[in-house]
Amino acid sequence: MTISTNAAALAASQLATRAIHAGQEPDPTTGAVVTPIYATSTFKQDGVGGLRNGYDYSRSINPTRNSFDAQLASVEGAKYALSFSSGLAAIDVLLRSTIKPGDNILLGNDVYGGTYRLLSKVFVPWGVGLDVVDITDLDAVAAAFKTKPYAYIWVETPSNPLLNITDIKAVAALAHEHGVKVAVDNTFASPVLQHPLAEGADVVVYSTTKYIGGHSDVVGGAVVLNDEETRDKVAFLQNAAGAVPSPFDSWLDIRGLKTLDLRVKQHSRNALKVAQWLEGHSEVERVWYPGLESHPGHEIAARQMHGGFGGMVSVQIKAGFEAAKRFAGATQVFTLAESLGGVESLIEHPGAMTHASVAGTTLEVPANLIRLSVGIEDADDLIADLDQAFKAI
Ligand SMILES: Cc1ncc(COP(=O)(O)O)c(C=O)c1O
Repeated sequence: MTISTNAAALAASQLATRAIHAGQEPDPTTGAVVTPIYATSTFKQDGVGGLRNGYDYSRSINPTRNSFDAQLASVEGAKYALSFSSGLAAIDVLLRSTIKPGDNILLGNDVYGGTYRLLSKVFVPWGVGLDVVDITDLDAVAAAFKTKPYAYIWVETPSNPLLNITDIKAVAALAHEHGVKVAVDNTFASPVLQHPLAEGADVVVYSTTKYIGGHSDVVGGAVVLNDEETRDKVAFLQNAAGAVPSPFDSWLDIRGLKTLDLRVKQHSRNALKVAQWLEGHSEVERVWYPGLESHPGHEIAARQMHGGFGGMVSVQIKAGFEAAKRFAGATQVFTLAESLGGVESLIEHPGAMTHASVAGTTLEVPANLIRLSVGIEDADDLIADLDQAFKAI
């Protein structure tokens, strides 16, 4: 069986196999096993309009980007994936191509600060209504749906930075009763652990900057979906506005996605160990990790996530804001930096860093909160590093 040329066999294979083979046909000219970086802005036409396989201009179409899109769609088990130059570009184009001024969005009350900034500072002035709800509370979501028509409910699960868990299936059922579309930002779980389309979501978005790229060396995003009409709208604006990834970005995403399954499972194992250790530490007020039984969303996460709970752990430091900042500055293996999902462990203070833009809003995060992106180093070394950092505060 030549798995890469047998689409039916590939579609029926496991995620780890699809991640390595889908969209990865050997190059037709040379047989190169790895998709080349097609670093070209334009393509020769054989006479006016005589396009070779539809290739005309790289904002519109590029073989390296196509290869990543096919790979990601297959990994997600979706019909279509469209990639972008960042996660926020993906969110922007999805929303701008499918809603208009006068429409409303219902947003979960714990999301990436940049998503809230885009919605509240760009979409609201454009005329879009934005309401925020405790999205883990189905009664609150149902009550909101009764107040006005919403174009979308925006779900981040696990959420950034508090790792709140939303029951996608339950929210989707409720949303669809009211004609509301469900968008899930699946960046934290990645397609390895969670399949929002199978749970009833209409569209999935990613910051591929995180686990999919996986090595902290590329910024990118993607929209993944099954509905052709929505796909066409997103593709139109993607080309019309042009926030596309470069061929090199797409190549880095391809390479990252091939090892996603391995990495995310190891991130999850390490994060669980770190979270359990933190939970027993005298300097810790509270640990937020969906793999812990103490987490309010643990039962839903155990049902909805497959093979682990992800690599993100948040922790509140008993001694407060200043001690939390000192702690974040005292680690030696964890690097103090924004972002997440790379092989190396990162530590940050959300209130002062990734979520500074939600200060003073209903999305404000606790001042003593520290967020860890647990990498795939040896877990005992990570724990030893956190231990010495606690001693330094
Ligand atoms: C959950 C989530 N969604 C979207 C984004 C935005 O992605 P990007 O930074 O690639 O634009 C981020 C960035 O941190 C994120 O954490």
